[in-house]
Amino acid sequence: MKNSNYYNIKDKTILITGAAGLIGSSLAKEASNLGAKLFLTDFNKDKLDKISDELIEKNNDVFSLHIDLSSQSAIDSLMEVTLSKFNKLDSAVYCQYPKSAGFGDSFEDFKEYNLYKDLNLQLGMAILFSRKLMMQFNMQGYGDLVHISSIQGVQPPKFEHYENTTMSSPIEYSAIKSGIISVTKWLAKYHKNKNIRVNCVSPGGIKDNQIEKFQKKYREDCTNIGMISPRDISSAILFLLSPSAKAINGHNFIVDDGWTL
Ligand SMILES: NC(=O)c1ccc[n+]([C@@H]2O[C@H](COP(=O)([O-])OP(=O)(O)OC[C@H]3O[C@@H](n4cnc5c(N)ncnc54)[C@H](O)[C@@H]3O)[C@@H](O)[C@H]2O)c1
Repeated sequence: MKNSNYYNIKDKTILITGAAGLIGSSLAKEASNLGAKLFLTDFNKDKLDKISDELIEKNNDVFSLHIDLSSQSAIDSLMEVTLSKFNKLDSAVYCQYPKSAGFGDSFEDFKEYNLYKDLNLQLGMAILFSRKLMMQFNMQGYGDLVHISSIQGVQPPKFEHYENTTMSSPIEYSAIKSGIISVTKWLAKYHKNKNIRVNCVSPGGIKDNQIEKFQKKYREDCTNIGMISPRDISSAILFLLSPSAKAINGHNFIVDDGWTL
């Protein structure tokens, strides 16, 4: 990707959570290529080390911290370490995807404690992380945050795509992802006149070894591509982080090849 004005994030300090994941690692690579200074975090040590080692070879300003980001104290520690490297934080992208052991169980069978765990980890932590970050952004007088929602937060699942597969899209995921869109808008409006922007991206399904039967059905409800790639999402995030998007705030950027049409 060229360092065009559209993606001008050179020297920006960016914190990426879930940086070892599909979207987080793609974003880290693209952002590093564009000259951003990165702080990467994830609880998967092996994968995080692999991606940060790869990036450090070409970019001296890549740091990482292996941490389980599922408590306020972990968020506080992450912020402290990040700021000890950069002094300021221009942007953050919240890409982590924690799941309870029962995430994906059927509507009829899911367990109460797994439901609470997923609501807490996927939505509650996103709120706590945002609050901590906003304190820093308020202190600096600027900053931007990108959350990740999903097409499942925009409209109900296409249940017919999952027929005769072991795959599902659970009810709590829809609730969580709608919640992320609401949280995004709330934060953007609450910080009016603070030079802070909060947006989210709603990806369509990312191609990741799903069975062919599912991919085919999914494709029929899209326009040109079907399942998308992590890079389709990281490009959208980079645009939102760039000065080109300065007038975009509280927005839900759907990147789904028309699945929601
Ligand atoms: N993959 C898709 O098809 C898809 C589609 C729509 C939306 N999304 C959303 O995109 C976001 C990222 O998804 P992804 O596909 O990159 O997921 P992923 O599973 O590939 O990556 C998520 C990363 O988060 C890390 N993580 C999980 N729990 C953690 C914790 N407690 N502390 C620290 N790190 C933790 C994992 O180790 C992993 O590397 C999620 O919000 C997801 O809901 C994904």
